[in-house]
Amino acid sequence: MEQFTRETERLILKVMTLADLPAFYDIMKKDEVGRWMGTGRAKTIDEVRERIEMYQHLFEERGYGCWGVFLKSSGIFIGQAGLLHIPVDEVGIVYAFAPEQQGKGYGTEAVAATLKFAFVELRRPRVYAHTRLTNDRSRHVLEKNGMHYVGVGDFQGIDMHGYVITKEQWENEKVSI
Ligand SMILES: CC(C)(COP(=O)(O)OP(=O)(O)OC[C@H]1O[C@@H](n2cnc3c(N)ncnc32)[C@H](O)[C@@H]1OP(=O)(O)O)[C@@H](O)C(=O)NCCC(=O)NCCS
Repeated sequence: MEQFTRETERLILKVMTLADLPAFYDIMKKDEVGRWMGTGRAKTIDEVRERIEMYQHLFEERGYGCWGVFLKSSGIFIGQAGLLHIPVDEVGIVYAFAPEQQGKGYGTEAVAATLKFAFVELRRPRVYAHTRLTNDRSRHVLEKNGMHYVGVGDFQGIDMHGYVITKEQWENEKVSI
C-alpha cells in the first residue's frame, strides 16, 4: 500500500491501517465533523473500522481511495481526504479534518493533491464533489480548487450541492494552491 503514499507541502497522505483506527474514530464520532458527512457521525468504532477496510479494498481494487492525512512536521493523524467511487464509473472527493486542525488551509491542500492524483495519475476525465446545503466552509474549499457549481440535487438520498471539474478545466485554469 506504500505505493499510494503522496506528499504535499505540509501533509502526508497514506492509506490508513487499523493502527489509525482510534485516532480516526476520535474524529469521526464528533458531531461537529460527522454532521457534515453523508454517513453522519460515527456511532461505533466498528463502523469506522469497516470504513478503513473499505478504503483499503478500494485502493487494492481500483487504485484510488480515501487516505489518512498526517502532518509532515509531527506525524499526527488529522483526518481523511481522497476519492470514492460513484456509480456507474465516476469518482467523488471526500475530506474531513479534526476540529482543532481546521482553519489552517489543510482542507484546500489535501483537495488540491487529490485532484492532481485524479487527473495526472489516474487520468480521470472529471471529478465530482457534494456538500450539505449549509456547509459553506466545504464549498469554499471546492471553489478555491476551481471546482464548478452544478446545483442542488439528490445525492445518495440527501439534498446536496454538486460540484464538478473536468481534466481540461483543471489543466486550463491552472489553479495553484
Ligand atoms: C470543510 C473542511 C474540510 C475545511 O477545512 P479547512 O482546512 O478548515 O479549510 P481551508 O483549507 O479552506 O482553510 C480554512 C482557512 O484556513 C486559513 N489558513 C491558515 N493558514 C493557512 C495556510 N497556510 N494556507 C492556506 N490557508 C490557511 C485560511 O484563512 C483559510 O480560509 P480562507 O481561504 O477563507 O482564507 C473542514 O472544516 C472540515 O473537516 N469540516 C468537517 C467535515 C466536512 O465538512 N467535510 C466535507 C464534507 S463535504
